[in-house]
Amino acid sequence: MIDVKELVSKMTLEEKASMCSGGDFWHTKSVERLGIPNVMLSDGPHGLRKQDLNADHLGINVSIKAVCFPSACATACSFDKELIETMGKALGNECLAEDVSTILGPGCNIKRSPLCGRNFEYFSEDPYLASNMAKHHILGVQSTGIATSLKHFLANNQEHRRMSTSANIDERTLREIYLCAFETAIKEAQPKTVMCSYNRINGTFASENKRYLTDILRDEWGFKGLVVSDWGAVNNRIDALKAGLDLEMPSSGGVNDRLIIKAVKDGNLSEEVLNTSVERILTLMYQYLENRNKDAKFDMDSDHALAEKIAQECIVLLKNDDNILPLQKGKKIAYIGKFAKAPRYQGGGSSHINSYKVSNALDSSKDFAEITYAQGYDTNQDATNSELLAEAIEVAKDSDVAVIFAGLPDTFESEGFDRSHMDMPNCQNQLIEKVAEVQPNTVVVLHNGSVITMPWLDKVKGVVETYLTGQGSGSAVSKILFGEVNPSGKLAETFPIKLQDNPSYLTGFGEGDEVNYSEGIFVGYRYYDKKDMDVLFPFGYGLSYTTFEYSNLQVSSEKIKDIDTLTVTVDITNTGSMAGKEIVQLYVQDVESSVIRPIKELKGFEKVSLEPNETKTVTFTLNKRSFAYYNVDIKDWHVESGEFRILIGKSSRDIVLTKSIYVESSVELPKHYHMNTTYGDLVCDPNAKDFLKKLNNLYFSEMEGDMGEGTQEMMLQMLKYNPLRAFISFTNGKISSSFIEENLKELM
Ligand code: BGC
Repeated sequence: MIDVKELVSKMTLEEKASMCSGGDFWHTKSVERLGIPNVMLSDGPHGLRKQDLNADHLGINVSIKAVCFPSACATACSFDKELIETMGKALGNECLAEDVSTILGPGCNIKRSPLCGRNFEYFSEDPYLASNMAKHHILGVQSTGIATSLKHFLANNQEHRRMSTSANIDERTLREIYLCAFETAIKEAQPKTVMCSYNRINGTFASENKRYLTDILRDEWGFKGLVVSDWGAVNNRIDALKAGLDLEMPSSGGVNDRLIIKAVKDGNLSEEVLNTSVERILTLMYQYLENRNKDAKFDMDSDHALAEKIAQECIVLLKNDDNILPLQKGKKIAYIGKFAKAPRYQGGGSSHINSYKVSNALDSSKDFAEITYAQGYDTNQDATNSELLAEAIEVAKDSDVAVIFAGLPDTFESEGFDRSHMDMPNCQNQLIEKVAEVQPNTVVVLHNGSVITMPWLDKVKGVVETYLTGQGSGSAVSKILFGEVNPSGKLAETFPIKLQDNPSYLTGFGEGDEVNYSEGIFVGYRYYDKKDMDVLFPFGYGLSYTTFEYSNLQVSSEKIKDIDTLTVTVDITNTGSMAGKEIVQLYVQDVESSVIRPIKELKGFEKVSLEPNETKTVTFTLNKRSFAYYNVDIKDWHVESGEFRILIGKSSRDIVLTKSIYVESSVELPKHYHMNTTYGDLVCDPNAKDFLKKLNNLYFSEMEGDMGEGTQEMMLQMLKYNPLRAFISFTNGKISSSFIEENLKELM
């Protein structure tokens, strides 16, 4: 590859400053004098949004025709690493054919609130799942030589005041939830770029936050690529450069470039810092330019077929009473709802793809059965249209089964704003209630980017969650409905019963520009489990047309050190009569802990494909991180010695096999003992035995009453929260401060 360092040494200060921002909305700058060309970046993440002249970052102006794959809310439900890698390869190939160096995405922000307008672009409420899906998306795209941009780093969990709000998050929560969602993807897939978010974190803009952009991203995690701003995320260009933000997008019309020149001349910015950023930008460009496979072809039809195949793997069967599904071919079936004809299959905003074709369920199902259709509701309307409702009721009455295609319209969820409630439009809820009154065999097919309430759930026999499944949505759904494909997706987020149940409800999107994540690490199922709350559908839940049995859970050892790895195996058998796929989930539970921890956390998942009667063994490898929490005191992950349970589940609420193991810590936590340390804290320290003995002798020798065993035990309980200094007051000076201090010194 071209010697980037040498090239930088030939550039003038002005040329270097100019490289640090876009030439236009989607290109880097070129430097004619040195023959440096530019490269193009485009959105992403689940399709190519390549625009020509009229550019925008909200998906309003038109982009080239491309293939819209399922959004992250859907692909996460596949829990399929290989599948998302295949999707990534196809995306990379489209970029090669269209000469786009970088496809922006994936987005792996945590779904903190069900209301975030961009939840459809994010994977999960769980950081382990989010980071692993992002990792495989990146590996797929980058295997073609195209760069990705993992976004939006960091803590961009709402659209409300997204360019100014400060996400105020304590360190442990950042580490275990919000940073964790990025960590594995960065360490194990090395995205060529990371996009910093608009918001502030604990008061400092992500774009000028050295702690995240350099100290953690590069120094701790070993990130080698470049950091690009979200479009318009730069607040102070000089601070941003110093913090590690290399490329500003789109362009500031030269304003910020001039500030960089001035700062270097004034001595406010080291030229070395600038050189490093320019080197990173040139490296990204030349890696692409010099290795680009110019023969790549963008075959829309084969990518459409792939988009449909992926969609099939993402769809989640939520309810199937009386085996209403699969539908029997040849029956009289009513398809009700506009989404049967024009599915909602992607979200609004910068990820909006100009799909070259879209399949709908109505046309796709014609070969399977006689289908009648009624529109049912006006899309984008909340109020019921009584004529459409009446027609739908008639059509439903006159059929064997009614399938209602419902969900959230574009106006209800999008990039740029958050939802204000978790409900579907009234007209759709009413339609489902009314149809179910006349037709006992009612199935609802949902199209939504985020969780919704289901006030009608008890009245329908079947529910199919498609999320936003891309342009192959209709054909994928019809194959699931008629049993051509066995549903195999599981939920990547919890469906709470109502919005108020969600842990972020109390603080919501904040006051003014401050949002306090006071629920801490208790996001999603971590919260609902801890509170033992009923939910509508739990994390990891999904049904199949076949049945699976789990057996023979084995661990490689019943006692390990935290530095060891543990192999866990479990057998899964397809006990039904149809081939199918099962998502096997492994959670870890810390049985007893001195820190507050969730009941369980996802630490492994695998999707297995099984023919009827077939058994396969699934293997997981656990390591220190599988058992650890983030200890803010030692600024590191820490495993507390003790018993842990390995939980194997069909979902987070359906744990079928468990095994206990003992993990021994190899780290001794530093001790901070002082006069206000409590007696009880010392009792927990085996090394404090001698000191306690001396202390007890002195203390109890002061007591005159009956010190039988029971009394002494009670006294010890009462002493638990006594600070050491109190012993001085209660022993007439027999216990002195120097006695305590000397003993503590010895202990530490
Ligand atoms: C979005 C990014 C997107 C960029 C470019 C921003 O508004 O937050 O996700 O990649 O625009 O369109």
